[in-house]
Amino acid sequence: MRATVDRAGLDSQGRSAKIQVRRVRKGDLGRARDVLEQTFSDFLERQLGTRPRQPFGGAQYVHHRWLMEPWGCFVAEEDGAKIVGIALGATWGTLGLIGPVAVLPNYQNQDIGQQLIQAVLGFFDENKASLHGLVTYPASPKHLALFHKSGFRPKALSAIMSRLVDRREPRIPGARSAPARGGLTTRRFSTLEEVKKKAALARFHRITNAICRGMDNGKEVEIVDGLALGDTMLLERGRDLVGFAICHTPGVSEAPAGALYVKFLAIDPPQKRPEHLEHFVGALEDLAAELGLARVILPVYSRYWLAYSTLIKCGYAIDFTMIRMQRGKPEDYEDPSHLVLDDWR
Ligand SMILES: CC(C)(COP(=O)(O)OP(=O)(O)OC[C@H]1O[C@@H](n2cnc3c(N)ncnc32)[C@H](O)[C@@H]1OP(=O)(O)O)[C@@H](O)C(=O)NCCC(=O)NCCS
Repeated sequence: MRATVDRAGLDSQGRSAKIQVRRVRKGDLGRARDVLEQTFSDFLERQLGTRPRQPFGGAQYVHHRWLMEPWGCFVAEEDGAKIVGIALGATWGTLGLIGPVAVLPNYQNQDIGQQLIQAVLGFFDENKASLHGLVTYPASPKHLALFHKSGFRPKALSAIMSRLVDRREPRIPGARSAPARGGLTTRRFSTLEEVKKKAALARFHRITNAICRGMDNGKEVEIVDGLALGDTMLLERGRDLVGFAICHTPGVSEAPAGALYVKFLAIDPPQKRPEHLEHFVGALEDLAAELGLARVILPVYSRYWLAYSTLIKCGYAIDFTMIRMQRGKPEDYEDPSHLVLDDWR
């Protein structure tokens, strides 16, 4: 039974306050970010024993996600006045991703998190996203139970890996840091003319569609370009697109201070050779070094076994792991030989 004392959500007469879940408005953005950061600071303090100065190391989620997907972002508001929870959702074509979700500590365990999740799931249905996913804390019974109640099944671990960019040491012992073999080159999406950007987006879609039918993260590319959150790198051989990587750089993006963060990278499945990923990682490290960034952060889902092993070979170490949870179709679409790095946070 739930305690009824010391609960925010009850007024001084013990009456239940009214919580309404609604879509985020422009005027909510600052407060929504505060709620997210306060909640995660509290959560991490309980896990780690010390309160982090910044819960996400300077990474930000609210403003650009809302600009990218305004209909997928929800807040829980108490008595029409105080924001006490937030949930963000985004669709990558037919793949719907939830997160982050946060409810202020004093308001937790009062069904608010579940209402927020239901709101995002409703948004997925409106947009015909058939596969829904998230990452959460594998060691938390509450988190696994919470998402299980909405039909999510725990899948495999997702690893957030990183490597210090130290140009004095070769990436792979004995290898040159960015082998220029095979005629591979990189270009930045931001340097393309508008008409070429459209063509590049269509080529990115062909790659993601070959990885998971219906997946399309063109909106992520466009928001990174439109708000200069970083850049999308194209890996090419002559006129062929071999792969692409959506990169965030620190400031107002999802990159923590001092790091180049790759949110999504894919090598075209017909060209899935580990050397291509190794070369691309080397080029991203060069980019980080050029930008004066000390670290490269790469997320990898452990079911993408070849990608995971290639990152280990490139000297990447796991910073932390999360677990993927999924519901809907296509279930378990991941091919272990696909060279994909994707972050569902
Ligand atoms: C995770 C979070 C969003 C959940 O929000 P919430 O409002 O507390 O969640 P709800 O009250 O809607 O639901 C929690 C459910 O988990 C259950 N639960 C709580 N502790 C549990 C435990 N140890 N084992 C199993 N179930 C547990 C509750 O009983 C409740 O289910 P019920 O309604 O059937 O009783 C909130 O705790 C939070 O913001 N945490 C910090 C940030 C975070 O971790 N975000 C999510 C990252 S993936």
